[in-house]
Amino acid sequence: MRGLILSGGAGTRLRPITYTSAKQLVPVANKPILFYGLEDMAAAGITEVGIVIGDTGDEIKAAVGDGSSWGLEVTYLPQDAPLGLGHCVLIARDFLGDEDFVMYLGDNLLHQGVKEFVDHFEADRGDAVAQILLCKVPDPQRFGVAELDAGGAVVRLVEKPADPPSDLALVGIYLFDKQIHAAVRAIEPSARGELEITDAIQWLLDQGHKVRSQVLDGWWIDTGKLTPLLEANRLILETLDRRIEGTVDEESRLDGRVVVQPGARIVRSTVRGPAIIGEGTSIVDSYVGPFTAIYHDCEVVNSEVEHSVLLEHSRITDGGRITDSLIGRRAHVTRSAERPRATRVVLGDDSVVDLA
Ligand code: DAU
Repeated sequence: MRGLILSGGAGTRLRPITYTSAKQLVPVANKPILFYGLEDMAAAGITEVGIVIGDTGDEIKAAVGDGSSWGLEVTYLPQDAPLGLGHCVLIARDFLGDEDFVMYLGDNLLHQGVKEFVDHFEADRGDAVAQILLCKVPDPQRFGVAELDAGGAVVRLVEKPADPPSDLALVGIYLFDKQIHAAVRAIEPSARGELEITDAIQWLLDQGHKVRSQVLDGWWIDTGKLTPLLEANRLILETLDRRIEGTVDEESRLDGRVVVQPGARIVRSTVRGPAIIGEGTSIVDSYVGPFTAIYHDCEVVNSEVEHSVLLEHSRITDGGRITDSLIGRRAHVTRSAERPRATRVVLGDDSVVDLA
């Protein structure tokens, strides 16, 4: 069994953060999203992993290297343009050979990992050529959607339907055998110009092949937008144990599950967990509330921040109270005493500011 992780694509829904960097490297609970997928692969006993990369490939390569930190052997598969998930399988043909493989969308996070899913397929696939994971969602039109018959067998799959046949979304983790290669060669690009993996699986069904499905028990999040990203951050922070490796002065208070990473400093501040404070970050005269992840080398001074994700080297100084926010690398939020009292901003393209 090989692994294929898709980390190309455009990342339009997390702009402006993704203008300058890969959406798969945005940290959730201070760990890049992509690393959770790599950990899951390793835990499932997979060692050879191909990573599809696009414009942000150099950054992905710098972060993942040869994969040895996870005990993996990583092969990079450059994709010239984001032509679809089916196109990713097409360009990975030589790397995958005729082996079974698990395909993992690099911006998806799955509570239960992939081990059980992989073991199940290997031990007891019967005559199935693919296995998909499904999850009940309130907004199925945003996803690939499956229609099952009364016995639970997959009968039809549609990508982002305006009128969804069910509330069962396709999770971005799939198991395939070599039949999928004929499928991605047979299908045509969709209306959005992509070779859809959903259409390729539908092609397998149309050829009379069996596709197994499993409905998820735990949570699954497609982190591509702000709200799900903050939600993923909340869910993962809840699983962390208290760990204090940085310094905390006597005037500070840490409540509950708080992680203070090495080199972080908490000075005259309160941090209420679950929260994580990254390496080299300083929290001074401030309050950090639940569900907050502050990445490496940040500064929060005389401010309050809650239910937010701060990327590396960002600063909030005299910033008032910040909540439900994603603050990009090297961004600075501050309040000056200058007159006239007004909001002054330097905003990147597609930024969003919600003024209190
Ligand atoms: O998250 C689950 C959904 O993922 C499924 O329900 C849909 O059926 C499936 O089509 C997919 O939909 P998205 O529109 O969310 O896919 P997105 O374009 O966000 O791409 C998913 C990942 O694959 C992301 O990490 C970028 C990468 N990718 C995407 C494309 C289109 C590539 O590496 N190359 C590509 O050409």
